[in-house]
Amino acid sequence: MRSKVTVIGAGNVGANTAQKIAQKELADVILVDVVEGVPQGKALDMLESAPVEGYDVCLVGTNSYEETSNSDVVVITAGFPRKPGMSRDDLLLANYEVVKSATQQAVKHSPNAILILVTNPLDAMCWTAMKTSGFPRERVIGMAGVLDTARFRTFIAEQLEVSFENVTAMVLGGHGDTMVPLVRFTNVSGIPLSELTTQDVIDRMVQRTRDGGAEIVKYLKTGSAYYAPAASTVEMVESILKDKKKVLPCAVHLTGEYGINGLFVGVPVKLGKSGVEKIYEIKLDSAEAAALRKSADAVQELVSVLEKKVA
Ligand code: APR
Repeated sequence: MRSKVTVIGAGNVGANTAQKIAQKELADVILVDVVEGVPQGKALDMLESAPVEGYDVCLVGTNSYEETSNSDVVVITAGFPRKPGMSRDDLLLANYEVVKSATQQAVKHSPNAILILVTNPLDAMCWTAMKTSGFPRERVIGMAGVLDTARFRTFIAEQLEVSFENVTAMVLGGHGDTMVPLVRFTNVSGIPLSELTTQDVIDRMVQRTRDGGAEIVKYLKTGSAYYAPAASTVEMVESILKDKKKVLPCAVHLTGEYGINGLFVGVPVKLGKSGVEKIYEIKLDSAEAAALRKSADAVQELVSVLEKKVA
């Protein structure tokens, strides 16, 4: 029997995620959105590329959740983009409502699903989904680290003129300005980055990684990144559905690991058929630990806003 994945939000990230899942024949896909016609139209359009591309999966677009029942994985990309004049907290509260309602409806029909959150602000939306679903932490996972790491790897490969594939990197922390690219754990085919270029160049690539989302927004003006976010989400979906047990940086609910309690923060985890199968607690030096703490504090700030508003 084929696996089933629901993608909530048929916008740029959601539609690209659905398409990549179909192209890789990972699962049947149900695409859900509140806007009438959009998920139906996009799913049908994708399905009509199946004869050309040669994939055999079902792709259904819908405005309701009935068709999503018994999904193995539910990806939540639904949300509002930040509009001019909107404060960070306004966006936080608007997307809180979207993610809460999407989670409620999705888990009602798929009580055993693994949730992957993509909507921003990511770490706070993971908190929202976990609180709403009541799921164990193994089944609520945020996509951020894979994307941030992919950006860092891209900049390194371009700078050193080596294959993208050869670059392994690690970016921990929250998905925002305070993310923590770990240079000590970054290498090209095992050769530490510090042996391949100067500190000055490394610092510039680290900063560009932190600003990676903003760099794309600056070009697009009316939207944010979606090709790399969708690809990163699909890597997580694939590791779960195929039980590949990839070790990837993901936002997970920490309960004391790294000295952080009750918050979603990006750390290396093993992803398999049960969701998060292991959280790796690596030994950080004092500067790295301080940067991770600072990043967790930024996540806490957003969660505190939510806790106050929804109390
Ligand atoms: N239920 C389902 N879909 C919804 C809901 C809801 N309650 N509210 C909004 N949506 C849909 C919108 O109709 C839209 O189609 O979510 C979709 C969002 O798509 P885009 O605006 O294209 O945004 P996108 O670029 O896909 O980003 C989605 O992912 O990377 C993050 O920061 C990004 O939070 C944003 C999310």
